[in-house]
Amino acid sequence: MTYAPACGQNQPFAADGTAAHQLGTTTMAFDTIIAGGEVITADGRKKADVGIKDGKVTAVKKGLAGGNGAAVIDAKGKYVIPGVLDVHVHLELPFCGTTSSDDFNTGTRAAARGGVTTVIDFAIPYGEDSLEDAYKKWRAKADPKTCIDYCFHMAITKWDRHGPEMEKMVEMGCPTFKEFMIYESEGWQSDDRAIFNALEKCKQLGGMLLMHAESSRVLDELIARNHTPEKMKKYGAQLHGMTRPNYIEAEAIQRAVKWAEVTGGRLYIVHMSTAEGADIIRDAQARGVDVYAETCAQYLVLDDALFKGEDGHLYACCPQIKKKSDQQRLWKGLKRGEVCVVSTDTCSFTREQKAMWNGDWTKIPMGLPGLETLLPIVYTHGVLAERMSLRQMVEKLCTNPAKLMGLYPQKGTIAKGSDADITIIDPKKKLKVDPATMETNTDWSPYAGWKLAGFAEKTLSRGRVIVDDYKFCGENGWGKWLPRKKAGKL
Ligand code: URP
Ligand code: ZN
Ligand code: ZN
Repeated sequence: MTYAPACGQNQPFAADGTAAHQLGTTTMAFDTIIAGGEVITADGRKKADVGIKDGKVTAVKKGLAGGNGAAVIDAKGKYVIPGVLDVHVHLELPFCGTTSSDDFNTGTRAAARGGVTTVIDFAIPYGEDSLEDAYKKWRAKADPKTCIDYCFHMAITKWDRHGPEMEKMVEMGCPTFKEFMIYESEGWQSDDRAIFNALEKCKQLGGMLLMHAESSRVLDELIARNHTPEKMKKYGAQLHGMTRPNYIEAEAIQRAVKWAEVTGGRLYIVHMSTAEGADIIRDAQARGVDVYAETCAQYLVLDDALFKGEDGHLYACCPQIKKKSDQQRLWKGLKRGEVCVVSTDTCSFTREQKAMWNGDWTKIPMGLPGLETLLPIVYTHGVLAERMSLRQMVEKLCTNPAKLMGLYPQKGTIAKGSDADITIIDPKKKLKVDPATMETNTDWSPYAGWKLAGFAEKTLSRGRVIVDDYKFCGENGWGKWLPRKKAGKL
């Protein structure tokens, strides 16, 4: 029996990812066996070994260890879960007058360290770009750098130009689309006509429309009313929260849900942050509307009191973090099911970038780092705090996102035939969040100083160890593009 490779000593792979044993003459039943752990999937938990061959899971049962030269990873006392999918990230995104500081390299290194093995970014057309132009630009940014598997949602920013391209994008492997109800100044905003039409088209094509739901005209009015030197001096970054009361999100969700209801198009509300939103989704689902909702880790554990602090502007993201009562409703929604995915909406900016605000909250680059801490936050504040079971955690972080985004069962589970994307966590080991030792390319973290369990002790991407002993040991360009056929259902 040989033991699993240490960090930086993975078994050799050829340039195309072929394992060494395939290049030689020996044939082994497994390349790697994860032995003695507790395997957690959305169906339940069981003590089992996991056998891996050619990057795929080929067996999940007891008694695999002990033979034929396979590398053995000792997972005794550990949880063995499917690699997490973060289906909402913005790496190297030109936004708010700057570019988000995590690119496809640092972002996916951070992801790996957080047990995330698949990311979905948003390819956004700029200027007169077509969807295909945006797709090509995003592939050019991502392909050489990405350390884990990835794909894109396609952002529709000009209905008349991009609507006719939707069918082709599905054929090219991108069946999920995005529209923003705000961000007129970025050139990204969609009106009701664009939303209605895109939902109809999604229904025809087996696609899904992801929606940033905030009510733009009333939001603009509230910003205009408060954008005075006196108010900015008095309230500073608190104005970010004060100008986005919960009804800004709720009205927009309500309207998008109406268009989904009448068109029959599948709708997915991204980064839902309010209790009111969760109520609307629950009611719509009860009426049979084809609608799903994701929340993000920050809305579950941070609240708007943070805007009062000296560093309050750092916490500005869009939609902004809300109240403790919203957190409670979102946790409840996760447990009951109307909130079915937790993602991060990673859009990192450094302190220097955030300082661009210079006292004017409308100029803060909006977004937070999050990929490295998603699983630790949900595990520590969800599972260990008894707000959800381990099985539910896997459902919200792995299985549901894989199903909805058309990646299941290749991703999102540990079963015969699935990609061997696997995260091993030590149930009790807590690490202190310290931006200085993190992979993410930011010099701060919303969670700095927090003690969190659930960091990946090991992460495997298609059978290859890319995090060992909490350290990244993968490689740029290892990540593969994931073409998808259709969006899925739960
Ligand atoms: O603050 C955020 N979320 N920045 C990224 C853009 C978006 O709306 O998701
Ligand atoms: Zn958004
Ligand atoms: Zn986003």
